[in-house]
Parts: sequence; structure tokens; C-alpha cells
Amino acid sequence: MEVVICPDAGGVGEVSAATIAQIVTRVGPQVVIGAATGSSPLATYSELADRVRAGTLDLSQASVFALDEYVGLPVGHPESYHDCIRRTVTEPLGLDPARVHVPDGNPDGLDTAGQRYEDAIRAAGGVDVQIVGIGVNGHIGFNEPTSSLSSRTRVKTLTEQTRRDNARFFDSLDEVPRHCITQGLGTVMDARHVLLVATGEHKADAVAAVVEGPVTAMRPGSVLQMHPHVTVVVDEAAASRLTMADYFRAAYDNRPDWQRNPAAPPSLLTV
Ligand code: F6R
Repeated sequence: MEVVICPDAGGVGEVSAATIAQIVTRVGPQVVIGAATGSSPLATYSELADRVRAGTLDLSQASVFALDEYVGLPVGHPESYHDCIRRTVTEPLGLDPARVHVPDGNPDGLDTAGQRYEDAIRAAGGVDVQIVGIGVNGHIGFNEPTSSLSSRTRVKTLTEQTRRDNARFFDSLDEVPRHCITQGLGTVMDARHVLLVATGEHKADAVAAVVEGPVTAMRPGSVLQMHPHVTVVVDEAAASRLTMADYFRAAYDNRPDWQRNPAAPPSLLTV
């Protein structure tokens, strides 16, 4: 696991976008990207959009698979992840909407929605880089504590903590759905590279638990310790409870040239 500690949230966006651009360079234009919603990856998407506008990054043939979706929000609801992904990812990054996928949260097709999503990811050749944020309870995607570490895309019930955390996007807590459909932890673990972004002091406990704590379903993101290629990009505040912070800083600051090379294989990119 490579942990990069940036001075601030802007730095997190820059390093994350550079990591993704590096993977696009290596994989080629038909790269498959897994996208999180929420506030954590917004700076990353905005940095990527700058590169697309400047003509240094072409994502027009890329495919995107969102991590999750609420169940039951009407089509076009501004807080549905379909709409968030359109606003923050598809349009600014110049993606082909036909290649952008979000789990289907329509209550009518829920029994097959998980398998349909898994099939679509497989048909696209799997995810090259999966971007994840982290909940204060350690969830990734909407895999709440006690989720199976090998779970696949399925319906989950949101914890009250997550509903309260996400109420800021809605007019009231009552409007936050109770159910979601989310890529499973096993689905995320199938991605060839996972990029976790987190900012702010309120994420410090979750980051420390996921990076340095035991692997446990009570902190679902800790399953990433079992993944061979994970980059965690955090600001100082989110890194403030990491006991290995000095080691992570030294490893990143002293990367040799062969590790900085944009064409370097993943085996050379992580500490
Ligand atoms: C969003 C998602 C969630 C969020 C997490 C952090 O698609 O899957 O796991 O990444 O709840 O949310 P923010 O970034 O808003 O703090």
C-alpha cells in the first residue's frame, strides 16, 4: 500500500489525478475507471478535467463504472448518483455517455441489478483503476460495517451514520434513501489498482483503521490491505492518526527515477 500525504486537499486532487493519468498512459485510451461520488474525489475530477481541456489527457474512449447508487430516487433527481456522475464526471471529463455506467437503483429491477452490473464490468474487461472515498465508519462504496469482505454488487441498507453524513446533500434527513446498490468489496478488490482519497480531520480515524488497523468487516475499507496495488492519497488532517506517517513521507519523497517514470509498471509504483 502506497500512502501519499499531501499538504492540503488541492494537493490530494493533483496527486490523485496524476496517478490516474499515469495509469491511462500505461493502459491506453480504452481504460476502465471506477468512479466514486461524494465530495472526496471532486478535486481529482476537476484536475482531470483541466488536463482534458488542455489536451494532455484524452478520455473520450474511456469507460466508467460508478461505485454505487441510491435505491428509489426518481430518474433525474439531482442527488441520484446517475446525475452526480453526469455533472461531475461524464461532462467535465468529455466521456462518451454510452460508456458511463451506474448501478440501477430502480426498485423494479433490483433482483437482477447487481448481477447485471457485475456482467457489464466483466464485459468491459474489468476496472483498471477504482477511485474510492471513505466513510467515517470505514465504508468504501456503500459497504457498511459487517459487509462481507468478498461481497459482490448488491442491495445494502445504509447505516444511520451514513444517512446523517449524506443529509447535507438533501433538504432533510428524511429525504435520504435507506437503501442503495453498491459494488461489493470483492468487486472493488477485482480492480487492478485502487486509489483511495480522503481529506479532513473527520476522516483521520477511518484512514488509520483502514491503513494500519486489523483487516475486519467492521472497517470494510481495511480489506484493501489484501490488494496488491493500492494508493492512498490523503491530506495532513486525514493522515493525522497514522503512526507510520514519517515512513510514508520518506518513501514518497525519496522515490527514485525508475519509480517516478510514468510508464513504470504498478509493481514499481507502490512502496
Ligand atoms: C460514494 C461512496 C462513499 C463515499 C464516502 C465518503 O460513491 O461510495 O463511500 O466515498 O461516503 O463520502 P465523502 O467523499 O462525501 O466524504
